[in-house]
Amino acid sequence: MTNNKKIEYGDFQTPRELAREVCRLLKKNTTEPKSIIEPTCGIGAFFIEALSTFPNIKSGCAFDLNNEYIDVLKNELSKKRLLQNNKIEVADFFSKDWQSEISSLTEPILVIGNPPWVTNSQLGQLQSDNLPTKYNQKKMKGLDALTGKSNFDISEWMISQMIDWIQEKRGVIAMLCKTSVARKVLLSAWQKNKKMEIATMHIFDSKTYFNISADSCLLTVVSSKNRHKECKIYDHLWADNPNQTIGLRDNFLVADIPSYEETKHLIDGEQHYQWRTGVKHDCSKIMELEQVSENQYINGLGEINELENKYLFPLLKGSNLANGKIPSKFMIVPQTRIGQDTSHLEITAPKTWQYLTKHSDLLDRRASSIYKDKPKFSIFGVGDYTFSKWKVAIPALYKKLDFSVIGPYQNKVVVFDDTVNFIALDNEKEACELADILNSKKATTFYHSFIFWDSKRPITVQLLKSLDIDELLTESGNTNRYSISKHSKQLQLI
Ligand SMILES: C[S@@+](CC[C@H](N)C(=O)[O-])C[C@H]1O[C@@H](n2cnc3c(N)ncnc32)[C@H](O)[C@@H]1O
Repeated sequence: MTNNKKIEYGDFQTPRELAREVCRLLKKNTTEPKSIIEPTCGIGAFFIEALSTFPNIKSGCAFDLNNEYIDVLKNELSKKRLLQNNKIEVADFFSKDWQSEISSLTEPILVIGNPPWVTNSQLGQLQSDNLPTKYNQKKMKGLDALTGKSNFDISEWMISQMIDWIQEKRGVIAMLCKTSVARKVLLSAWQKNKKMEIATMHIFDSKTYFNISADSCLLTVVSSKNRHKECKIYDHLWADNPNQTIGLRDNFLVADIPSYEETKHLIDGEQHYQWRTGVKHDCSKIMELEQVSENQYINGLGEINELENKYLFPLLKGSNLANGKIPSKFMIVPQTRIGQDTSHLEITAPKTWQYLTKHSDLLDRRASSIYKDKPKFSIFGVGDYTFSKWKVAIPALYKKLDFSVIGPYQNKVVVFDDTVNFIALDNEKEACELADILNSKKATTFYHSFIFWDSKRPITVQLLKSLDIDELLTESGNTNRYSISKHSKQLQLI
């Protein structure tokens, strides 16, 4: 199978030992099933292992789009004299009549497997339509598709369908998937008030079993008359006790229920402080430079350039912020607000203008559509706040809650790239007090109740701004109130 085909069909066959381990776990924790269904069975690791783990299963069915896989499974079952009681067929998940299949099965039903690991945007790049019909690529061309908002995992859609299958039946769903997929499936089911027991997620190491790096789990959902909205997370497949309970509370997806209960009164409120993300330019080779002497700077292409200091600012990336807080580079910030005309640079900073013009091929080629029809050398995430003297900042991609006070460096304000979130402030005292309160036990507990540390960007602006800082200051007895910071006069560039 070519690599593209493997991607298109999310084809990572489950090793037998993992399928066996999963079946053992299910035997220990759930009621014995009487029938089994494997909707995307591949060569059938789960089907075979489940038949040998659960002797009460009298019949079952397994399907896959790939006819060669179906032949392999049929052969193996036939050798074991198990073919006659089981239906093994080629089928497309998206066009199969699942209701009639499910209604022919004896309860309790075990729905087991490992649905394809592929997203609709990967399918878009491969021009594949291995998607639910109503999501086909032609309908995904809008703004949502451009911004990635409409991106979803195919397995997310499939597992959500399976939850519907057991709404009026007794059964268990056990699916391998990414932890982010499991959370999205559960959030949607909880919001739709689906009937289910408390779900479980058992984390496993996808590197060991599939040679891929993805946070992965076994998601188990058991049918119920109740509508539980919680999921217990186990560190590994053999763990006896959960180490975390996530759930739906007040329509929020909560990462730690006890922390949420303790601090939920601090949600939202009127926002006095504004969280921001650093500058986005998508061209670090040109826009980020190291200083070699007074006016000379070396860029990411290894070229030494003489540039005016006026538009160069000490840069802290998230990694600098997490390790030492010393700017290692300077960033060219050619605008003070989004969309500002940059043609004045030719007069105000001719060397910088010449440098940027020389590299305009790279800058004009920036892939993101946000740069389209914008002034030359445009950047994003820029405003008065970029030039404030004091900032309280936190790296967005690091798995640690640690807020730092950042002041000027070499007499210039420090700027951040888009791996940093921050609040801009006018004075040091306010910045220190704010950092103290954000690093307090209560704020940490509050943020812990919402952070999923395995997310690509665990610390988002949306998360940060959900904390009512004013309320927290009041609770801690801090009665100082600073006026809303005005940063516009810090640095006049033009
Ligand atoms: C991650 S593999 C897992 C296979 C098997 N469940 C296992 O655990 O080893 C995903 C399987 O989904 C199948 N598949 C992909 N798209 C499908 C579709 N639209 N309908 C049915 N099967 C599909 C692939 O052929 C592949 O065998």
